[in-house]
Amino acid sequence: GIISRRDLDIALHHGFNHAPVKGYMSRNLKTITPDTSIGEIESIMVTYDVGRLPVIRDNNLVGIVTRTDILRQRHADWDLGSPQQKIPQRKKPKSFLTKPQHLIPDLTWKLLTKLATSAEARGWNLYLVGGAVRDLLLTQEGEKVELQDIDLVVDGFHNSADVSAGVELGKALQAKYPQARLEVHGEFQTAALLWHNDPIFGNLAIDIATARTEFYPYPAANPEVEASSIRQDLYRRDFSINALALRLNESRQGELLDFFGGVLDLESRQVRVLHANSFIEDPTRIYRAVRFAVRLGFTIEPQTEEYIRYALDSGVYDSFFQGNERKAPALQSRLKTELKYILQADYWQSALQLLSRLTALRCLHPDLKLDSQLWWQIRLVDRFLRRFDPEHSLSHWQMRLEVLLSYLAVADRDRVAKNLQLSTDSITRLNTLNQVAEEVKARLEKDISPSQVVKCLRQYQLPMLLLLAATTCQQIRRLIWSYLTTWAEVKSPLDGNDLKAMGYQPSPLYKEMLDSLLSARLDGVISDNPEAAKDMLKKYYKS
Ligand code: CTP
Repeated sequence: GIISRRDLDIALHHGFNHAPVKGYMSRNLKTITPDTSIGEIESIMVTYDVGRLPVIRDNNLVGIVTRTDILRQRHADWDLGSPQQKIPQRKKPKSFLTKPQHLIPDLTWKLLTKLATSAEARGWNLYLVGGAVRDLLLTQEGEKVELQDIDLVVDGFHNSADVSAGVELGKALQAKYPQARLEVHGEFQTAALLWHNDPIFGNLAIDIATARTEFYPYPAANPEVEASSIRQDLYRRDFSINALALRLNESRQGELLDFFGGVLDLESRQVRVLHANSFIEDPTRIYRAVRFAVRLGFTIEPQTEEYIRYALDSGVYDSFFQGNERKAPALQSRLKTELKYILQADYWQSALQLLSRLTALRCLHPDLKLDSQLWWQIRLVDRFLRRFDPEHSLSHWQMRLEVLLSYLAVADRDRVAKNLQLSTDSITRLNTLNQVAEEVKARLEKDISPSQVVKCLRQYQLPMLLLLAATTCQQIRRLIWSYLTTWAEVKSPLDGNDLKAMGYQPSPLYKEMLDSLLSARLDGVISDNPEAAKDMLKKYYKS
């Protein structure tokens, strides 16, 4: 393996002084042999952004070549006037996206080029970064990418751009598109331009940030930031496929900045993290790795998977559940956002299984395990949701999450639900589920008539009934099913007006009379013929 000084610094910073180096070292290191040519060495260094290449002969380390060695060698070659060595036949990854305007809707492209011109006039470079570049590179010719979230980064031609460069560009853009709303976020100023239901752009968000570098004061914290170059800005990101930048300036427009082998990873369809401590610092990245892998049909690169497992096994997140009162947004609100993305996507089942295989559910709580029963329950609630909420008036992702959390002891559920900042309704449901389950069981376990089932279940709302159905025994589940499919729809054959017409004086007794009719109807004592209902009333109530 190999370990960089930066990895060591971060590990020490997070208190991993005694942790064995095997958790941090890169195993899939690039190596060369004594026969590798200089051209090939350069190409490896550039493609994979490595500055040191171990030289291996017969499985033994026999030397190391650094960037400085290569520079010296080149310099010596030039001094001696020797011919340039040929760059080897290694397949060069794509370094230009030719005609990005063919992949981006025309008006969006026009807007981006206007912004690039404003940046250039101020001595800045403008780059499209993050997911949009990834998606553009994955797009087939002839298709267009509907960009809704556009992340842009500005940096200076020679020095770092001023921290407020993003905001200045945002304001300039808003002057040209007054229908957009401008928001300025955070201490490290980022401008966001937002179009909502716009006749031209629909819903579009453009974020303009100044290139920055960031560091995490402690694991799972929010990062702190300072101004920097585009390269550093890309290095702070999660995966190589998300760390690509596309130059928008007119000169060299379409140039791809790929410092970390992102294009090759897109071609080999893998999610590869940029540095060893990434998951220690930001556990939401574990969920993001899973989301991208499943969504794009990629694999998680083996070393990246090892880093994930190492971060999880290190126990660094568990301390958050052991009374450590430090705020950990990456285990709270930000984790909820990732869970939401995953649990509301079509691919939620595969993603959840992959999270479970990686043991990543322990970021929610150390005891949470997707055992076969929980897996069955969570798919069950889905069947109920499809049947009883086809319009999606409930948050299906939240119901799935509630089933997941119902696996935990009540006190833990409460803590986790509050950590994740779930809605008050959700928290209450999780807290009262066991009590409701007991009450319902006590009332419905014996041989019981449909009217008694209705009386018991109608006090609960649909989300509680669905949660209960997924987590209770078969007998109760069947009753909930019958209640929701049939019995809840049954109406009393008469209403208040009918009672009045029959000569009964309006009084609180009406409710009791209508209830008795409903029960009789539910239990099959009377048919839905109003005459039968009237006969029954006359028998029991004097007008
Ligand atoms: N990012 C990161 N670490 C995170 C979240 C985000 O490094 N925990 C970076 C990535 O470079 C990412 C970019 O910020 O590409 C934008 O984040 P986001 O919009 O959440 O992701 P996208 O990659 O745009 O993915 P999606 O297509 O799902 O929007």
